[in-house]
Amino acid sequence: MAIIILAIESSCDDTSVAVVRDGYVLSNLVANQDIHMAYGGVVPELASRAHQVNIVPVTRQAMLEAGIKTEDVNAVAYTRGPGLLGSLLVGTSFAKGFALAQNVPLIEVNHLQAHVMAHFILEKDQENRIPAFPFLCLLVSGGHTRIIIMKNHLEMEVIGNTIDDAAGEAFDKCGKVMGFPYPAGPLIDSMAAQGDKNAFRFAKPFVKGLDFSFSGLKTSFLYFLRDRIKEDPSFIENNKADLCASLQNVIVNILVAKMAKASAQTGINEIGIAGGVSANSGLRIGMKEEAGKRKWNLFIPEFRYTTDNAAMIGITGYYKYLRGEFSGHNVVPLARF
Ligand code: KG4
Ligand code: ZN
Repeated sequence: MAIIILAIESSCDDTSVAVVRDGYVLSNLVANQDIHMAYGGVVPELASRAHQVNIVPVTRQAMLEAGIKTEDVNAVAYTRGPGLLGSLLVGTSFAKGFALAQNVPLIEVNHLQAHVMAHFILEKDQENRIPAFPFLCLLVSGGHTRIIIMKNHLEMEVIGNTIDDAAGEAFDKCGKVMGFPYPAGPLIDSMAAQGDKNAFRFAKPFVKGLDFSFSGLKTSFLYFLRDRIKEDPSFIENNKADLCASLQNVIVNILVAKMAKASAQTGINEIGIAGGVSANSGLRIGMKEEAGKRKWNLFIPEFRYTTDNAAMIGITGYYKYLRGEFSGHNVVPLARF
C-alpha cells in the first residue's frame, strides 16, 4: 500500500502544503507573504494572521493538484519548530485538527533537519540523484548557518555553527543598509551578476574550527559605507552592483572555505548545501568550483527546495512514518528546537 503524507510548513512567513507519496512529491504549494516587504523584516503578528487566512485554501489546492482526497492521507507531518511561535501554532493546530478528524497519526518535523532532507525528495519522471551516507551538508538560511553530518535519514550531528548572525542575516542586514527591501538576499544575488566581485575588499573574520561569524562583516560593511558616503553622498547608488558582488563574494568565500575544511577533517566527499541561501548563484558556483578541485560528489538543491517549502517536511515525515516515529496531540510547537 502506498504511504501518503500531507505536509504543513508554517514556521516563518511562507504558508506551504505538500503531498508526498512513497517519497515522491505529488504537489508542493507555497503562499508567500509580501506584506513584510514594507517593514524591512518579518512581522510575527502579521505572519500568523496571514497563515490563518492561507492554510485552508493552500491545503485544498495541494490536495487537488496531487489528486488525493482527505481519506487518502495516511499521516500529517508538520513543522514543530524552530520558528516564530505564532506562525508555528497555526500549522500545528491545523495539522492536529486534520489528523484528529481523519484519525491518522501526527508526525512532528524539525525544520532544520527538513532543509537538509530536501536532498532526498523524489520527483516523478525524473532521474533522482540522492546523497549517500554519511552526507556532509551546509545549512544556510535566514536564521541558521550550520555544518551537519547526516548519518542516516533521521540522525544528524552538528559540527559547525554560527557564533552570532546567520549567513542569510548578513545578506539581509547589509542589504537593508543599502536600502533594499526584505529579504535582500535574492536582490543582492541578481544585482551582483552585473558587478565586479573584486571591486571592494571586506575582511574575513577569523573563527576557530568549523564555526562561523557574520556580525563583524555587517559592522565593517556599515562603517565602510558610512566613510565613503561622507566623500560621495551617492556612493551606494553609484556602486550598487560592485557592492553587491563584493559582499556576496566574501560571504561565499567564508562558507566554501569552511566546507572545504569540514570535508578534509571528516574525510566525507558526499557534500551538499541547503536552506534559503543555497539559492545564491555565487554560492552554487563557488561550491561547484571547489567540488571540481576536491573531487566532491556535490548536491545542489532545486531552487524550489532551497527556501521554505512543505515538500521537505513531507519527505522527513515519510522517513519518520517508516520508523513509526509519531507524536501525540499534547506536543506543542517550539520556537527553538
Ligand atoms: O530557508 P529560508 O527560506 O528561511 C529560513 O528558514 O530562514 O531562508 C531565507 C533566507 C533569507 O535570509 C534570504 O535573504 C535568503 O535566505 N536568500 C538568499 C537568496 N535567496 C534567499 N540569500 C542570498 N541569495 C539568494 N539568492
Ligand atoms: Zn527555512
